[in-house]
Amino acid sequence: MGNVIEFSSEADRDALLEGGPGTMVRGTVLGEEYAVVAIEGRQYRAVSIWCPHMQADLVEVGYSCGKTLECGVHGWVFDLNSGEAIESHLPPKPNQKLLPLTVREVDGVFELELPQ
Ligand code: FES
Repeated sequence: MGNVIEFSSEADRDALLEGGPGTMVRGTVLGEEYAVVAIEGRQYRAVSIWCPHMQADLVEVGYSCGKTLECGVHGWVFDLNSGEAIESHLPPKPNQKLLPLTVREVDGVFELELPQ
């Protein structure tokens, strides 16, 4: 159970389960903070909370429709499957992308699939 996502409250976890696409809450795994986003049905992605452009906290200032995540500081929009910036006011550098991770949810327990 090493990659189980911890939420700050049961309400956050319930929001993910019940809130529908675009619901986004903060979760922690092994001391790292993630934005956990409902994409559709009971499928979820997790990305670092830090915007790849200038490190804004995406849970604080971001908005998601379930397919993309938009940072509210400069409006960059990231695809939640590829992680690529699909809208930006400057050409993104190669490392300015999100690294979306798959989240498995079973009976209300959320687990992050970390890369090997
Ligand atoms: S800090 Fe997120 S778009 Fe600039």
